[in-house]
Amino acid sequence: MRSPRVLAAGLLLVAGITMVAACSSGGSTPAAPSGDAVLVEGQQVYSQNCAGCHGASGGGGYGRKLAGVVTVKYPNIDDQIALITNGKGAMPSFSKKLTSDQITAVTRYTREVLGTN
Ligand code: HEC
Repeated sequence: MRSPRVLAAGLLLVAGITMVAACSSGGSTPAAPSGDAVLVEGQQVYSQNCAGCHGASGGGGYGRKLAGVVTVKYPNIDDQIALITNGKGAMPSFSKKLTSDQITAVTRYTREVLGTN
């Protein structure tokens, strides 16, 4: 029979791993309208590259809040695309990691889906 202490340690370990997993996945991102392929791609790019810092629904975390903010702060979408492409301060540059189509898709996702549903 196993000692209760070993069992307790095992349970703690499992709880710890579950918490770390929950944190790094950051919950699920708001769904893009299924009829818009670009926004669907944008959601995928966002959940894989941005949600970890900006939060699953763009509420912020390590990175700034994006939901409902970006359209006000960047009335011209090109300015926001440039920021994501080139990075700024602690915000990494995505010019090598994502194609310009992917950057446009994720930018549209942050403007048209996050903060609107
Ligand atoms: C390593 C964490 C990190 C990741 C990953 C990240 N960001 Fe950021 N982001 C930041 C930080 C920190 C800032 C604030 C930069 C500053 O102004 O100094 C920021 C700023 C921004 C801004 C400007 C916000 C404002 O108020 O001006 C946008 C837009 C943005 N990020 C979009 C994205 C997108 C889209 C992705 C995924 C492709 C992404 N970020 C990935 C950390 C991150």
